[in-house]
Amino acid sequence: MPSVLPIALGDPTTAHEPVLADEVLELLRPRAGQTVVDCTFGAGGHAQRMVEDLGLGGLYIAIDQDPDVRPFFDAFAAGAPCETRFIRANFAVALEALGQDGVRADGILMDLGISSMQVDRPERGFSYARQAPLDMRMDPDQPISAATLIADASEADLARWFREYGEERYARQIARAIVRRRAVEPITTTADLVEVVRSAVPSGALFAGGHPAKRVFQALRIVVNAELELLPHALGSAFALLAPNGVLAVISFHSLEDRIVKRFVRARAQGCICPPDMPVCGCGRTPEGELLNTRAIMPSAAEAHRNPRSRSARLRAVRKLAAA
Ligand SMILES: C[S@@+](CC[C@H](N)C(=O)[O-])C[C@H]1O[C@@H](n2cnc3c(N)ncnc32)[C@H](O)[C@@H]1O
Repeated sequence: MPSVLPIALGDPTTAHEPVLADEVLELLRPRAGQTVVDCTFGAGGHAQRMVEDLGLGGLYIAIDQDPDVRPFFDAFAAGAPCETRFIRANFAVALEALGQDGVRADGILMDLGISSMQVDRPERGFSYARQAPLDMRMDPDQPISAATLIADASEADLARWFREYGEERYARQIARAIVRRRAVEPITTTADLVEVVRSAVPSGALFAGGHPAKRVFQALRIVVNAELELLPHALGSAFALLAPNGVLAVISFHSLEDRIVKRFVRARAQGCICPPDMPVCGCGRTPEGELLNTRAIMPSAAEAHRNPRSRSARLRAVRKLAAA
């Protein structure tokens, strides 16, 4: 199928090469007439691969909270062989609404986090490498930006976010430097924040472990977009939306996210939880799902080399059992 995206996937400044695309396809195996829900449409990289086999009777439902993806969806929809729908919303909300509308999905994909397109647009404020307003909202209509958080959060909260969500060693020092700086002048741009981080990190550590502001930016992005908070609920809504034998596949990009996904898929596949010495099962619990991979699938060396962004990706999938 020819590329229908408005940008060439080979363009290094705006490209979004879909991560683990062959592996996702192998797990979801979309077939003619099926319904697939793509919770994180982005530039439509996965969509373009998955839609090929859905045919005239198929339905591809694309969700994304970022209005900037709309031109990508329009171009995708114009070339898609099946019916398509776009829902601009947080997937935690959209999945629940689809369930209430009686939709049943044969395949659901979540490719979590931000897209290359969002990182590469300086004005979105996701990149520590570009001078821009400190924004980081995937949904620009959401009221709290990174600048608001940096202006209002307590020193203790800032330190906790940097430590827990960024695994930043100098979390406390950076939080203190932010509080001191904002008492003198507001921190409103990516460059302001990078400068404060640099001032707080010991000079010997500035060049260890990548860009010194990398972990702080990751932590703020997670908080701004409530990424970890919404995920458990959204996974539950996605599993509920699956038709019998339907598959939910999730790609995550950091360990905290992967831990939530791992717990969720394992819990779906868990049967009886009675102590082993109980002669008869008393809990009555039966598995609702089957794990399609016991260990997370990671990108091949070739993919990691070709697309460095894929390096931290982890793919997990669960199939809903027919009797669930
Ligand atoms: C990693 S990209 C997806 C890329 C896509 N699979 C592709 O191949 O082009 C993640 C996308 O999901 C969106 N997104 C992330 N979390 C979301 C959420 N909770 N609700 C809706 N969209 C979300 C982001 O705005 C971004 O466009």
